[in-house]
Amino acid sequence: MPAEDRYRLLTAAILPRPIAWVVTQAADGTVNAAPYSFFNVFGSERPVVALGVLARPGRPKDTAANILATGEFVVNLAPFALAEAMNATSVDAPPDVDELDLAGLRTIASVAVRPPRIAASPVAFECRLIHEHETGPGQWLLVGEVLRAHFATRVLTGDPARPRVDHAALDLVARMHGPTAYLRTRDVFDLSRPVWSGAASDLSLSIRETQKS
Ligand SMILES: Cc1cc2nc3c(=O)[nH]c(=O)nc-3n(C[C@H](O)[C@H](O)[C@H](O)COP(=O)(O)O)c2cc1C
Repeated sequence: MPAEDRYRLLTAAILPRPIAWVVTQAADGTVNAAPYSFFNVFGSERPVVALGVLARPGRPKDTAANILATGEFVVNLAPFALAEAMNATSVDAPPDVDELDLAGLRTIASVAVRPPRIAASPVAFECRLIHEHETGPGQWLLVGEVLRAHFATRVLTGDPARPRVDHAALDLVARMHGPTAYLRTRDVFDLSRPVWSGAASDLSLSIRETQKS
């Protein structure tokens, strides 16, 4: 199967995919930003996230080159209000171009790593590379430990000492099939987690729709 068909089938079936809006810095200080939807959380003790960076003919993607060179990156999350700006930073600009400047986005200095975070993003994770694996020629799986997390108070709710994330206020977008399709994370339903009590007949499952888009 040609490589582009494999890509098309995999990415049209494994969805929706959350989007890491990744800020990195080259060794010379140039800031870089780009979205990555081969992204997820893989543990909480310690807190671990991973990115999949595809090979690019000619030169590696700046995100992979910078993370491999510096061991640091910041994952910002992208709400619907920033979807166009996020998409703008996916432009294949040369390494000396700061995509955040192009998209008119301000940054805030990070605390634990050198790359800054995106000021307008409601959630950002400062990460240190803890594992790198070349899964194909020039294709990387990059695993990072979250050293610090930033949540805008407007996306938090409940007891400030033990806040919860207000997913409706967060209003994140996720990647769907094809090069242009996205969704908003609004079509939510609840499923209670079953607890084994000794007999399969005791299992009762219920679906309750909490919100319709
Ligand atoms: C929403 C979105 C998600 C993307 N996800 C990925 C991904 O998971 N892996 C990848 O290699 N490229 C992905 N891309 C493409 C990169 O963002 C694009 O190649 C970008 O130019 C890379 O920039 P860089 O060289 O600054 O890292 C995605 C693009 C968009 C718009």
